[in-house]
Amino acid sequence: MSQVLHPKFVTFILYLCWTSEKVSSQQRHYDPSSESNERNIGSSYFYYQQPEYPRDCTEVNNQCSTYNVSGVHLIKPDGYPEPFEVYCDNAVDSGGWTVIYRIQDGAVLFNRSWTEYKTGFGFLSQEFWIGNDKLSFLTNQNTYELRIDVTSSNDLSFCITYNRFRVSDEFSEYKLTSVGEYNGKRDEIDHFLCPTNSEDWIYISRDCSRRCVCNSGHLSCDDYQCSPDAVCEETNNGSQCYCNTGYKGDGVNCTIDVPPSDCQDIYERVSTESGVYKIKPTTWQGEPFDVYCNMTDEGGWTVFQRRVDGSQDFALYWSDYKDGFGTPHHELWLGNDKLHSLTTQKNYELRVDLVNSLGNPYYAKYNSFRVNDENDNYRLSLGSYSEGDAGDQLYYYNGQAFSTRDRDNDAHSYHCAIHTATSYWCSTCPYNSGWWFSNCGYAPLNNPYGTDCFSWHNLSGNRCNIKFAEMKLRPI
Ligand SMILES: *[C@@H]1O[C@H](CO)[C@@H](O)[C@H](O)[C@H]1NC(C)=O
Ligand SMILES: *[C@@H]1O[C@H](CO)[C@@H](O)[C@H](O)[C@H]1NC(C)=O
Ligand SMILES: *[C@@H]1O[C@H](CO)[C@@H](O)[C@H](O)[C@H]1NC(C)=O
Ligand SMILES: *[C@@H]1O[C@H](CO)[C@@H](O)[C@H](O)[C@H]1NC(C)=O
Ligand SMILES: *[C@@H]1O[C@H](CO)[C@@H](O)[C@H](O)[C@H]1NC(C)=O
Ligand SMILES: *[C@@H]1O[C@H](CO)[C@@H](O)[C@H](O)[C@H]1NC(C)=O
Repeated sequence: MSQVLHPKFVTFILYLCWTSEKVSSQQRHYDPSSESNERNIGSSYFYYQQPEYPRDCTEVNNQCSTYNVSGVHLIKPDGYPEPFEVYCDNAVDSGGWTVIYRIQDGAVLFNRSWTEYKTGFGFLSQEFWIGNDKLSFLTNQNTYELRIDVTSSNDLSFCITYNRFRVSDEFSEYKLTSVGEYNGKRDEIDHFLCPTNSEDWIYISRDCSRRCVCNSGHLSCDDYQCSPDAVCEETNNGSQCYCNTGYKGDGVNCTIDVPPSDCQDIYERVSTESGVYKIKPTTWQGEPFDVYCNMTDEGGWTVFQRRVDGSQDFALYWSDYKDGFGTPHHELWLGNDKLHSLTTQKNYELRVDLVNSLGNPYYAKYNSFRVNDENDNYRLSLGSYSEGDAGDQLYYYNGQAFSTRDRDNDAHSYHCAIHTATSYWCSTCPYNSGWWFSNCGYAPLNNPYGTDCFSWHNLSGNRCNIKFAEMKLRPI
């Protein structure tokens, strides 16, 4: 029960009661002969003493019928040097209980020294500890039953008993040598903890390992565990897992509070698996949006363009390229506003992956990639070709503004975004895409799929009608 209710909410009383039937059945378990000697000595002592002092409340009760009301009486256990006062409770279970401890309102401090616990403290009429010496003498003169009564502030109560309670002497540091068998009514305890008229509540054990739910009189408990991103903290009625700062959730499942700013952030804080995730660049004013994170090549690549099979039309307009189109796990253009926002928050490198018409893979990396805002027509700033085997084709677009079929921002007299060209190395084919055109030379990676104009001029092998392209960026 201590797991379930903080003591300040309960009245907690320990009683000791001796019953003759139990003595005979229990005595057989006591083997050391010294102990039976002690008892014999005690008994003769007892006969001698009996007219003056009872040895416990059971004897108080038996001695005189007028003593059968609860109250303070003098007793003198076998071997104890002098009589002392105890509180005898005759109101519960046919009476005769010697109360050894009571806590009910916090009036008495239980934060005490060894000596105080040895001699006892508090007030018999209120809160007290009887004292370990007395407890030791008491429980070693006979076999005692221990009864613990617990009452809540709203008067619900239950009790549990142990049939053989015994505490050793100071020499053995008042060791709890035995408590015997537990006897408590599970139903009563459950009812105490979870009354039928109770509102639903949840209780979590101090170490956060168990969670109990009380639901209209039904108590059920199961295992509980804090998320790796949470800590277990005590509350005024138990404990709870709390997500670490930067995370939110119920403490069992914690998710990051601040949305990741790009796939590198996902890689570091969420997952190292490739897939679709929500990100929100720090410079992005809108809602978080989905991106595909390619976690190969040391992870953290935010994919902003992919061509796979031509299922997505790329012959689109300014507003389409501005907002983005397609699906993150298949063909897509992420969108120029998002590209601008992404590349403004950090310095990024660019990686381009290509598969030519023969199925051979190539790649190219650039050490910096940045897209200006719409006012500057999403102008491209590209660093230098840093690594790869695809050859450097993009240098050609560095510093150019973005054009689409409905916006001609290129430096050429033609409207390069939409025209038909005979490319240098491939057949005559249509240009129709959004891109950072300068003149109408090398074909951009957004050109119609399945045509020779979907090409990468600097490939050493088959450069026309390539089959796969993916463009992605990662912070440096
Ligand atoms: C106390 O003793 C009196 C007289 O024997 C008896 O009538 C009464 O029921 C007893 N009370 C308790 C609580 O045992
Ligand atoms: C217990 O008592 C000691 C010594 O008086 C004190 O330092 C400590 O803070 C007390 N603890 C509580 C919980 O009251
Ligand atoms: C303990 O406190 C928490 C939060 O204050 C509450 O949700 C829960 O129901 C409380 N449990 C009990 C047993 O009062
Ligand atoms: C916590 O996560 C586990 C496993 O992912 C899931 O089964 C469970 O439903 C989640 N719990 C809550 C409260 O979201
Ligand atoms: C991920 O990037 C690698 C190169 O690092 C590329 O080969 C692969 O096709 C990409 N995968 C996906 C699913 O986009
Ligand atoms: C790319 O092709 C152009 C034109 O053929 C050439 O001038 C340039 O050197 C090539 N770059 C690389 C890295 O292959």
